[in-house]
Amino acid sequence: MLSYKHGFHAGNHADVLKHIVLIYLYNLEKKRSKSISYIDTHSGSGLYKYISKYMEKNKEYKFGIKKIEKYNGDNKLINNYLKTIKKISKKNNFYPGSPLIISNISNNSDKLYFCELHTNEFNNIKKNLNQFTNIKNINSDGFNFVEKKLIKNKSYFILIDPSYEIKDDFFKIYNILDNIEKYEKSKILIWYPILSYEENDEFIENLRKKGIDNMINLELPIKTKNEERGMKGSGLLIINFKENKILKDLKSLSKELHNLLKQNDDVYNPKVRYL
Ligand SMILES: C[S@@+](CC[C@H](N)C(=O)[O-])C[C@H]1O[C@@H](n2cnc3c(N)ncnc32)[C@H](O)[C@@H]1O
Repeated sequence: MLSYKHGFHAGNHADVLKHIVLIYLYNLEKKRSKSISYIDTHSGSGLYKYISKYMEKNKEYKFGIKKIEKYNGDNKLINNYLKTIKKISKKNNFYPGSPLIISNISNNSDKLYFCELHTNEFNNIKKNLNQFTNIKNINSDGFNFVEKKLIKNKSYFILIDPSYEIKDDFFKIYNILDNIEKYEKSKILIWYPILSYEENDEFIENLRKKGIDNMINLELPIKTKNEERGMKGSGLLIINFKENKILKDLKSLSKELHNLLKQNDDVYNPKVRYL
């Protein structure tokens, strides 16, 4: 049994990056589609209380959401994210996970599918999101769900956000990308951790070799390579989103977030590029 619990990490720099981009892309998609079929393959429990044995343990949120909560700059993506999560967590006593964020910004005509493998987290998400009527919680493997259950030729918006507790998760990402023609009508957002810069270079090189059209990569390094503990940063793969302004918006976002979140002055610069 794996021990990953997102509560230990909720609101950290990686959640901040992922949720800002998720909200941005979902809102873009709302302009194009009257009814979105959304799948979160690794949903977690949807809501994380600041006062809890999980979030209190390492207080990772102090290096994430707490560093930008009082942001007064003019980046639209950051401001929209902050406005969205403040509306959801009115008393600011919890950090919302991706399912709660999307449930709040979706239209009633959108259909939201949340896959969570672990029964405790599945029971928690059922409880935490019980007021929403356009959602379906699924207690099963999210990779399996997208592989087996998607209807051919239908378009989906898919968030793939594994814990990468086991290396196998990276291979499952390769597997999805090797079959990318299956998702040609879908929009995909994949999150991944930068655990070591050397291994990450190899990962990116393997992705490049797949020659996928229309795949944007954003990477946000937070720590130098000499830091011994924890993630060095994180990255996103953004597939099949065609709006021209995305690259420009992500470039200004990554620059701003890097200034706000980096933990040393000599951290590598962020990257935004087509792979
Ligand atoms: C990084 S967390 C998800 C965070 C969430 N997407 C968010 O942004 O708030 C990953 C979650 O996936 C769950 N999980 C692990 N393996 C899974 C699998 N194969 N299918 C579905 N869920 C899985 C874990 O229990 C954990 O709750």
